[in-house]
Amino acid sequence: MKTKEELFLEAKKISENSYSPYSNFPVGACCLFENGKTYLGVNVENVSYGLTLCAERNALSTACANGERKGLIAIAIYSPKQKMCIPCGACLQWMAEFRAENKDVSIILENEKGEIIEHTLKDFLPFTFKFN
Ligand code: THU
Repeated sequence: MKTKEELFLEAKKISENSYSPYSNFPVGACCLFENGKTYLGVNVENVSYGLTLCAERNALSTACANGERKGLIAIAIYSPKQKMCIPCGACLQWMAEFRAENKDVSIILENEKGEIIEHTLKDFLPFTFKFN
């Protein structure tokens, strides 16, 4: 199983592939599933700005396309433009969709001092939409 430092470094490396010519705000994400597999994503912008896809949802889409379902246990996020690159609300809801049964998701970020820190999905999204 990759460590939080390794996940963070993967997010950092993949952020170089970000397509963000409009915001100039590259983001990379690396998500980890219970089976030990990891998937990468970058933000992908569009001239029609509202079509932009965040790095976190890109990584989770790739995981889904590779057959992953409810096993997400961690996600690391990096932007060279901002420490503590906290995921947006839409990405938090996506993480909730794929989290492992009865487990929280570790959200791995770099703080202002450059240290790798962990929050949880519950910290950022204590209540989650669901129906039935
Ligand atoms: N962005 C992400 O990739 N993840 C987030 O959680 C928030 C924002 C991207 C979208 C856009 O390309 C750029 O950051 C500036 O908003």
